[in-house]
Amino acid sequence: MENPLSAVQMGLIYVNPEGVNGVPDPLKTAQQVRETFARMAMNDEETAALTAGGHTVGKCHGNGDAAALSAEPEASDVENQGFGWGNPTMGGKASNAVTSGIEGAWTTNPTKFDMGYFDLLFGHEWELRKSPAGAHQWEPIDIKEEDKPVDASDPSIRHNPIMTDADMAMKVDPTYRAICEKFMADPEYFKKTFAKAWFKLTHRDLGPKSRYIGPEVPAEDLIWQDPIPAGSTDYSEEVVKQRIAESGLSISDMVSTAWDSARTYRGSDMRGGANGARIRLAPQRQWEGNEPARLADVLAVYEQIAADTGASVADVIVLAGSVAIEKAAKAAGYDVRVPFLKGRGDATAEMTDADSFAPLEPLADGFRNWQKKEYVVKPEELLLDRAQLMGLTGPEMVVLLGGMRVLGTNYGGTKHGVFTDREGQLTNDFFVNPDRHGQYLETGR
Ligand code: HEM
Repeated sequence: MENPLSAVQMGLIYVNPEGVNGVPDPLKTAQQVRETFARMAMNDEETAALTAGGHTVGKCHGNGDAAALSAEPEASDVENQGFGWGNPTMGGKASNAVTSGIEGAWTTNPTKFDMGYFDLLFGHEWELRKSPAGAHQWEPIDIKEEDKPVDASDPSIRHNPIMTDADMAMKVDPTYRAICEKFMADPEYFKKTFAKAWFKLTHRDLGPKSRYIGPEVPAEDLIWQDPIPAGSTDYSEEVVKQRIAESGLSISDMVSTAWDSARTYRGSDMRGGANGARIRLAPQRQWEGNEPARLADVLAVYEQIAADTGASVADVIVLAGSVAIEKAAKAAGYDVRVPFLKGRGDATAEMTDADSFAPLEPLADGFRNWQKKEYVVKPEELLLDRAQLMGLTGPEMVVLLGGMRVLGTNYGGTKHGVFTDREGQLTNDFFVNPDRHGQYLETGR
């Protein structure tokens, strides 16, 4: 699946456990595991720790005929949505459960967090077999009876342990293998790495650390929390606005920069946004959607104003947007004052995990009439996607788009959709004049 989606295959959380497109090949699967986890900002060490630690406990379920299951969850009746695959004939519990179709546990003691995953994976040779449900899975060629895990519901029975293709990737891929060898030599290091990666996996969508509550919040600042120092409020808003107004920057430059700085915000995990002014750092500074050459000129002006006045660059970027809106409204005959709250901070490069910002790169921005290249999805869908990621309502999306067209913030200064003769004035011309060019024909782009 295309970036920036997390899974590489539709309908799966990570990768196909039987192999890429269902064909077992651990080296190929390793590449997809790497890509999938990189999209979640996990490096190789975190990925290996999570996979090994996660599969130290629990089991796969495929002890029965997969054809006897009812339709997949998306195709089920509404009352059964979200309950997984229906399993009416086999009962669906304990040893009769069929979910992934793979059957068995990874370790000798699947209810204990121990080093059993590595002991079995690296202590045996594995061969490809089929589960009772017909799924590809790896089983040990030779294993002592006492090393086999017991049945999930009958401890008197023992079964072969299993590995998915993704588990085999941890042994076969040279980089994952070296990491696993380090974990095996130092179990404490493995536990600590797993604990930290698990905390990251389960907390990275909570947003800034200031939102955490309770006695267990770690004191340590973690880079994936996108730390931002508090910004100053001890400066004169009026002085900063005056400096911006006298800077000679255009309305388009000021609005575009404020917008570009804010539009990375994702309501889904509260990353990105104007706070931190990361637009002036790598990689955002170079993102094509930010028009790097224009951005560099604008930022040079803002950085000077920030240095002279004590305001953060993040505040100056937002205030400049307000200055531009007030000016454009005035030109249209309206005296408005855009409310403003001080105190954004400026993050540094050291506080920024540059690699993990790559998935935040806007690939399309309907508000500025731009997309990086042609995608499988239509520009309209990408516009809706961006609007919902930013937390905008339908009316907010529409009014912002119409306003930005007449303010002249199209990418590269194009004139598509600029339905006005008085660009730079904040008017409702976009909504009044859409038919000024006659009829529109769909071009498919
Ligand atoms: C590398 C990519 C991964 C793949 C391909 C994968 C695949 C699977 C599959 C096929 C199952 C069996 C589901 C079933 O039949 O019920 C499973 C179960 C499980 N996975 Fe993963 N997994 C991956 C990564 C992870 C990670 C990162 C964690 C957690 C840190 C994790 C934790 C678990 C646990 C605890 C179970 C057992 C659930 C149970 O006992 O019902 N897995 N995984």
